[in-house]
Amino acid sequence: MVMLMKPKLLMRLLRILIFLLLTLEPLTFIAFAEQENPCLICHMNIRDPLKNIHPALDIGCDACHVAEQGKEHPKDRNSIKLRDDVPKLCYNCHKEFKLRGEYVHAPVSEEMCTACHNVHQSDFKSLLIIEPPELCYKCHYKAKFIKKHFHEVAINACGRRCHDPHASNRPYRLSQDVNATCIGCHSVQESGSHIVSLSNGHIHPIKGVPDPNKPKMEMNCISCHNPHSSNFANLFSSRKRCDKCHKFY
Ligand code: HEC
Ligand code: HEC
Ligand code: HEC
Ligand code: HEC
Ligand code: HEC
Ligand code: HEC
Ligand code: HEC
Ligand code: HEC
Repeated sequence: MVMLMKPKLLMRLLRILIFLLLTLEPLTFIAFAEQENPCLICHMNIRDPLKNIHPALDIGCDACHVAEQGKEHPKDRNSIKLRDDVPKLCYNCHKEFKLRGEYVHAPVSEEMCTACHNVHQSDFKSLLIIEPPELCYKCHYKAKFIKKHFHEVAINACGRRCHDPHASNRPYRLSQDVNATCIGCHSVQESGSHIVSLSNGHIHPIKGVPDPNKPKMEMNCISCHNPHSSNFANLFSSRKRCDKCHKFY
């Protein structure tokens, strides 16, 4: 019995300790923040100390909001306005050129920063409303990415590792060219020797020759593999392994 009691007691103590840590810290913090910032007396929820806070809040609410002269807040309508509309507001502090490129993501060119970002605080990194890939599935058809065989790791890393969320100078806003993206995780396949073993020392081309199915493009990893998911093993983009391009094998 005693042996059973002890861990229970310990657990209870631990729980009390954790509770104290979780409650005391924020309470004192909010009290301090209120003193500093009169807006937080009523808008406590804008700055939840347990979340990731936009560092802009440290500059002050008036970095983005301004009180309308002659109006009383919150009594009068439109008593507080945004300094500028989004995204101009964001570019007051963030460099616009970083979100520009030859290929711009539609929600970025449509100025919908808040489709992906919270402006004040968030549970996730980069102030995102939810984490990728779920964020991406808000607008992109999820079923396309989770067919029978799917590339779980690459999809979960679909942050900047593969596609830039805002813009880049490569098609599909890739951060690097296709082969470099894949080889970053699959160095063994860099030579193309995994495709077919040839006795004459030749290896199968994976670049530098035209792709027979995509007239203006060179061969690369996705000439044969789908980068996200597929109904065929090895993420093949079609049932045809070789006769997609060759007549005799
Ligand atoms: C006395 C309490 C109180 C204080 C202090 C206060 N607000 Fe408000 N605020 C409100 C209430 C109530 C609303 C209306 C909420 C609603 O309609 O859902 C509001 C709404 C807003 C809105 C939404 C837009 C609008 O006009 O409805 C913004 C933005 C805002 N407040 C910013 C601020 C900022 C910035 C400060 C500090 C300068 C501030 N508030 C101080 C109570 C307050
Ligand atoms: C980086 C710019 C920025 C800063 C700094 C900022 N806000 Fe906001 N705030 C916005 C934007 C943009 C919106 C409109 C959001 C939308 O349309 O989804 C907004 C909306 C609001 C709203 C109404 C909607 C809501 O989320 O409840 C309130 C209230 C508010 N802000 C209060 C504050 C307070 C209080 C502070 C300071 C602690 C603050 N904001 C600091 C940009 C900012
Ligand atoms: C008053 C200045 C200011 C404004 C306006 C502003 N930001 Fe920021 N923001 C900052 C600072 C400072 C940082 C921290 C340094 C950095 O990452 O550049 C930051 C960081 C961020 C981050 C990264 C947060 C993280 O956890 O890594 C995002 C995302 C962001 N801001 C989005 C926005 C968006 C969207 C807008 C417009 C609605 C905006 N910001 C407007 C000052 C601002
Ligand atoms: C489709 C979703 C999406 C949209 C729309 C979007 N962002 Fe982002 N943003 C992201 C993601 C995802 C990250 C995190 C990137 C990473 O982890 O490397 C990010 C990161 C950021 C950062 C942090 C610094 C950086 O470059 O990593 C800033 C600042 C930022 N975004 C500003 C903006 C602004 C301003 C807009 C509107 C013009 C905007 N974003 C629109 C998804 C989006
Ligand atoms: C707010 C909606 C929205 C969100 C969230 C979103 N996208 Fe998009 N995305 C679009 C639209 C609209 C297009 C253009 C139409 C199309 O090609 O489907 C697009 C196109 C793309 C393209 C094709 C290349 C291009 O620029 O046309 C890629 C790749 C892409 N998105 C990746 C992502 C990734 C990765 C995420 C998550 C980090 C994401 N998207 C989140 C709306 C969104
Ligand atoms: C972030 C790392 C990463 C990147 C980038 C990446 N992969 Fe993968 N890939 C993996 C891992 C880990 C596995 C094994 C587990 C899995 O399927 O997620 C894998 C599995 C595969 C498989 C075998 C799937 C099967 O059904 O056996 C193929 C084929 C593949 N990747 C091709 C590619 C191609 C083509 C690219 C570039 C478009 C690429 N990978 C980019 C990490 C990555
Ligand atoms: C010409 C078609 C073709 C091209 C181009 C191609 N592959 Fe493959 N890949 C294959 C075939 C065929 C297999 C199956 C080999 C087997 O059965 O062992 C395969 C298998 C794979 C596997 C799974 C290996 C395993 O052991 O499970 C990975 C990972 C992979 N390829 C990555 C890549 C990467 C990365 C590139 C670009 C550098 C690439 N492939 C280019 C045809 C191709
Ligand atoms: C996406 C198209 C594509 C697929 C799929 C494909 N190949 Fe190829 N293959 C090519 C191209 C392009 C060449 C180069 C032709 C040239 O040099 O004229 C080539 C060359 C070859 C060569 C000659 C290599 C040499 O230099 O001696 C062999 C053998 C070969 N492929 C076998 C295969 C086999 C086996 C498969 C199936 C596992 C396959 N290929 C799948 C496009 C493809």
